[in-house]
Parts: sequence; structure tokens; C-alpha cells
Amino acid sequence: MNRTPGLFITFEGIDGAGKSSHIETLAAEFRSRGRTVVVTREPGGTALAEQLRSLALNAPMDALTEALLMFAARRDHLQQVIEPALARGDVVLCDRFTDATFAYQGHGRGFDQAVLSELERWVQTVPALPAGVLRQPDATLWFDLAPEVAAERLAGARVPDKFEAQPAEFFRRVAAGYAARAAADRGRFVRIAADQPRDRVWAALLQAVRSRGWLG
Ligand code: TYD
Repeated sequence: MNRTPGLFITFEGIDGAGKSSHIETLAAEFRSRGRTVVVTREPGGTALAEQLRSLALNAPMDALTEALLMFAARRDHLQQVIEPALARGDVVLCDRFTDATFAYQGHGRGFDQAVLSELERWVQTVPALPAGVLRQPDATLWFDLAPEVAAERLAGARVPDKFEAQPAEFFRRVAAGYAARAAADRGRFVRIAADQPRDRVWAALLQAVRSRGWLG
């Protein structure tokens, strides 16, 4: 539960699902209603976390190292950017967060989910929340797209990073991971069918945010 004045919305989905293109549009929607918006991403969002991103996305490493880098980046990002913004009452729109770690490192790489939960507990314990309550997004917009369609969209688009270069089977596991996370937390997750034309995806997203009373 978020007891701070701001609003924390994350965007999730497999590579190629098309989430990133909607983040700035949603930011503009909030700004036009007078809200201050911080648009950020994970891994990244601070100078240190961007350095960790570049390592995690490019250097070969084992799954534990990868998970530790993701959570290290997240800790810095929470402390430097997300928590101060939420305390000010800003809207934080974040391209990926912990669900990506469970989907990519947990389901994709097959890394121990109990260890990820433990790291989540360490990293997302913040002074603004009572003991035992972790910082979690108020809503997670999950762009759900079949891995085969996402792969077609990505093909030839740019030089793939370490994750984008993974085989189709990896993305099937990641997609299943997101579906499992969504099923386990239906209150937080909003499923956006990402196989529709862009304007339909946007309409669905806007409707989901409006229905929660966040855009007046
Ligand atoms: P992405 O968010 O897709 O950014 P871009 O649009 O610039 O490619 O790239 C981040 C990649 O990092 C993506 O492949 C998913 C991966 N990732 C993890 O494996 N674990 C994590 O915890 C996070 C946040 C991202």
C-alpha cells in the first residue's frame, strides 16, 4: 500500500510489447492536469543505476550476479529518485520495476524466486512506509503480447542487447512469468492487450488509469 502522497505506476511486458512509446503520452496527460511527473526507467534512472544497467545489459554474468545488479540499481533509484518524488506528491512513471526481475531473472533465467523475494524485501523496505510494508507500484500496466509477435516487431529494429538476443523459448518463459505475476496480484496489475493498433492500446491504457480516478 502506498501511504505517500505521490502515485507510482510501472510499465511492464516482454521486449517488443510496445510499452515505452506510451509512457511520455501518459506523462503529458498527467501534466495537462497540473501534476508533476517523473518519467524514469529500470534498470537505470540515476547515474549509478545507469552504469549498472550498461553492465547488466551487455556483460555476460550468472543469474545471481544479474539479479544483484538489478536490485542494486533499484535500491539507488528508489533512494535518489522514486521515494523523494513520491514524498513530494509527484507522479512517477517507471519503465519496468521488480516484476521484470521476477519475469526475466526468475522465469527467464530460472533463478530462485525465493531469493528474489528476499532481495525485494531488503531493497523495497523504505523509511516512508511502516515496518513490514514494501514499496510497490500503485498500478502496473502490463503490455501483454505473444512472444512470436514481439519477436517480429523487434526483428531488424536495432542491434539487440543481451536480453533481446535471447531465443524465443526465453521470451515464452518471461511472458509466462508476467502472466503468473499478474494472476497473483490482480488488484495491482492492469492487463493491456498489446496486439491491437497503437491508438486502441492507448485508449485501453487511458481507460484503465481513468477508472482508478487518477486523471480526474
Ligand atoms: P528495456 O526496458 O526493454 O529498455 P529498451 O527499450 O531501452 O530496450 O530494456 C531493459 C532490459 O532489461 C529488458 O530486456 C529487460 C531487462 N530487465 C531484466 O532482465 N531485469 C530487470 O529487473 C529489469 C528492470 C530489466
